[in-house]
Amino acid sequence: MAQARPRILVTRKMPAQIEARIARDYDATTNPEDSVFDADRLVRDSAGHQGLLVCSTEKLPARVIEKLPDEIRIIATFSVGHDHIDLDAARARGITVTNTPDVLTDATADTTFLLLLAAARRAYEGERMVREDRWGRWAPTSMLGVHVTGKRLAILGMGRIGRAVAQRARGFEMEIHYNNRSRLSPELEQGAIFHEDPEELLGVADFLSINCPATAETHHFLNAARIARLPDGAVVVNTARGAIVHDESLIAALKSGKLAAAGLDVFENEPAIHPGYRDLSNCFLLPHIGSATNETRQAMGFRALDNLDAFFAARPPRDRVV
Ligand code: DGY
Repeated sequence: MAQARPRILVTRKMPAQIEARIARDYDATTNPEDSVFDADRLVRDSAGHQGLLVCSTEKLPARVIEKLPDEIRIIATFSVGHDHIDLDAARARGITVTNTPDVLTDATADTTFLLLLAAARRAYEGERMVREDRWGRWAPTSMLGVHVTGKRLAILGMGRIGRAVAQRARGFEMEIHYNNRSRLSPELEQGAIFHEDPEELLGVADFLSINCPATAETHHFLNAARIARLPDGAVVVNTARGAIVHDESLIAALKSGKLAAAGLDVFENEPAIHPGYRDLSNCFLLPHIGSATNETRQAMGFRALDNLDAFFAARPPRDRVV
């Protein structure tokens, strides 16, 4: 007799190749209309399933995890970040949690550079000027931005994505500085300058790229006091998580001219972003598309399914975080 396929709840519409593999290998409840799962629906619809395939859009704090039915044995997230899942609560209930590292490193580092260049060179203002037919004569003094080549880039969080950002920055002859929980080996550092104290890192940041995970320690890390430590005219870029930045402080610094510009792909409470960002022409804004290439989203889906496959075959999932 054929073995029953594992029953999983898939909270978001997935790329076609991923949906096809899910249909082949799982007894799955999917969400073709991509409707929103709030906490109540997540708990209710989990009934009758053994695993969840979620995204960073589905919040799983302790109070939700505690209410999940006993049959749920694994939560596989289609993301490298797992700050939307309370890992301690999952551990306490014996629920395995997996993520999708590696496969989105390049796409996210590419997006970091898109933001860095766009913010520094005033791409938003220039683009609007052309579209709105406000492009006057070329002028020696118009649309002057911040020079990128040869500047100091400070990377907060030198994991896979931070290192991929550094690799791209070497092509721009930037001097690379970083802070990380632990210092990297010389092979991984490749000449980048380690700052044990993140406060000290800020002092050399002509450009600051935020690439660390969102944790209790990094929550609102970039606040008014720390922005004050950045060189005047610095540029801030964030492709990690919005909660690492204190929005009011960043907005004030962009308004006052303390900072030249910012490039942001992630926001606290996204998509309900702080409205103050919308009026700032020195802020280049993207809607959390760091990993949004066809190739990357497919690879993320396959990686999440590989983890589920391993778990249900009683093998250790490759990307187990709990
Ligand atoms: C990730 O993988 O963490 C991306 O930010 C998408 O949530």
